[in-house]
Amino acid sequence: MDIVACPSSPMLAKRIAEIKNLKLAGVEYKKFPDGELYARIESKENEHAVVGSINSNDDLVTFILALEALNGKKIAVIPYAGYARQDKVFLQGEAVSIRAVAKIIESYAEKVITVNIHSSDAASHFRSLVNLDAMPLIGKYYRSRDVIMLSPDKGSLERVKVAASVANCDWDYLEKRRIDASRVEIAPKNIDVEGKNVVIVDDIISTGGTVLEAAKQIFGLGAKKIEVACVHAVLASFAAVKILSSGISDIIATDTVEKVFSRISVAEIISANL
Ligand code: R5P
Repeated sequence: MDIVACPSSPMLAKRIAEIKNLKLAGVEYKKFPDGELYARIESKENEHAVVGSINSNDDLVTFILALEALNGKKIAVIPYAGYARQDKVFLQGEAVSIRAVAKIIESYAEKVITVNIHSSDAASHFRSLVNLDAMPLIGKYYRSRDVIMLSPDKGSLERVKVAASVANCDWDYLEKRRIDASRVEIAPKNIDVEGKNVVIVDDIISTGGTVLEAAKQIFGLGAKKIEVACVHAVLASFAAVKILSSGISDIIATDTVEKVFSRISVAEIISANL
């Protein structure tokens, strides 16, 4: 088997190749003046794992072209699967985007591997999906550190519980409480954050709106220091500069989306499932 790196995941693909002691195939990618993309893969193998997060339309098209260029058995490794937030019809007439992506990818690949795909609904559109959980890796990063972990909402609570159990620290989630008709208070459900080092843990940081709002509330309750940790550092719309200028000390992320904040690698868990 050869590993094929897509332009979105060069380091992660290299790490996986090193762990598995496999070769990285030679690749040529280019964009024509009219915006069309091109892929050519140099490999004599008959089995390949194509590694590339889908964080843009170009990422998606390049991934499809890489699959199309290959012969034999293909595994699609999509560490960050964009389009997964449109996992159902919310408004009549909408496309279920992740279903369309799943159909195309699975027309080429026998197996698909993702990391913390947005939801079980998104996962359900794949026939042969292995969806890995990077929360234990976030927990490991914080092991033996004096922190408490908070989920920005109840929806992410289960994820935070997993990270906190590995980190061996306390955890909680932010709850919205209505004080009266015009006032809403957002605070941790059970624990006191005053004077504490808090890590807000989420699966995705996209615009940063969720963690910025959470941090504002937690600082308001007297937290000493706040970091944010996530699996997928999408960091759209100047999110990184907004977060780091807000008093939040650091952004810790995995390498599902390769950023300067990617200090935790998912290479081992992907390698174990290839
Ligand atoms: C929501 O379902 C997710 O867990 C994240 O909280 C959300 O995607 C973060 O988005 P943003 O950074 O744009 O607030």
